[in-house]
Amino acid sequence: MEQKLKGQIAIVTGASSGIGAGCARELAKAGATVIVNYPVPGGKAMADAVVNDIIQNGGMAISHKCDVSREEEVLEMFETVIGQFGTVDILVNNAGLQKDAPFTEMTLEQWNFVLGVNLTGQFLCAREAVKEFLRRGDTGKSKSIGKIICMSSVHEVIPWAGHANYAASKGGVMLMMKTIAQEFAPKKIRINSIAPGAIATPINHDAWDTQAHLQELLKLIPQKRVGQVDDIGKAAVWLASDDSDYVNGTTLFVDGGMTLYPGFEDNG
Ligand code: BGC
Repeated sequence: MEQKLKGQIAIVTGASSGIGAGCARELAKAGATVIVNYPVPGGKAMADAVVNDIIQNGGMAISHKCDVSREEEVLEMFETVIGQFGTVDILVNNAGLQKDAPFTEMTLEQWNFVLGVNLTGQFLCAREAVKEFLRRGDTGKSKSIGKIICMSSVHEVIPWAGHANYAASKGGVMLMMKTIAQEFAPKKIRINSIAPGAIATPINHDAWDTQAHLQELLKLIPQKRVGQVDDIGKAAVWLASDDSDYVNGTTLFVDGGMTLYPGFEDNG
C-alpha cells in the first residue's frame, strides 16, 4: 500500500477504542506516526493495545494520556509530542462521549461534561495544532502545513431527542470547523469534519446488541448495514492526505445514507 502519510506525525484524541482506534490504525497503515491519546489512567491498557497492534503491523505509535477538556493537559500533550517528534502534522479531533437524558431531567453536569469534551476539547486541541502548524511552517511533507479532522456526527444536522447536549456539541463542532477553516485556509491549513452515522462501537452498543435493536437501527440506514470503524479511518486518511488537497471546511458524511431521510424510502 502506498504510504500517503509517510513521515507525518498525527495525534488522534480518544484513540484507545472505537472510531479513534480505527483512525489511529488506518493513519498508521498510511505511514503516519500516531499518538494514541486516551483520557483517564484506566485507559492506558486499551491505548497500549492499539499501539502494540500498530507496531506489530509495521507502524509507529505511542500512547499518551490527556483529558482534552482540560487546558493544562492539552498544552502538556502538545509540548511532549513536539518535544519528542519535532512537530505535529495531523490532528484527528476525535474524543467524544454521550451522557443522554430527557431534556427536563438533564443536569448541568451532564450538559457541561459533554460540551466540555466534545466541543471545548476540540477547540483546545485545534488551537494548539494550528499554533504549531504556523510556528513550524512548510516542510515539504504535504501540500498543506497541517490538517485537522474534526469528528462530528450525523447529529450535526439531525436533531436527536434525548441527546440535546450531544447534538448541541456536534452542531457547535460544525461551525467551529468551518470558521477556523475559513480563518486558516490562506495559511495552507486544511480543516474538515467527518460525520459518522451509526458505527459499531461501545458508544452505541445498545443500538445493535440484539437482533431486535439491530433491525430497528437498520430502518435508519438506507445501505442496510451498520458502519465499521475502518469506514471512518479510511475517510480520515483521505482527508489527511494530499488526495483531498482542495477539500476545506467541509463535512464528509460517512453514514450509509442515514442523512437521506430514510423514512421516505417507501413512503411520502
Ligand atoms: C452517536 C451514536 C449513534 C449515531 C447515529 C453518533 O454520533 O454517537 O450513538 O448511533 O450517531 O445516530
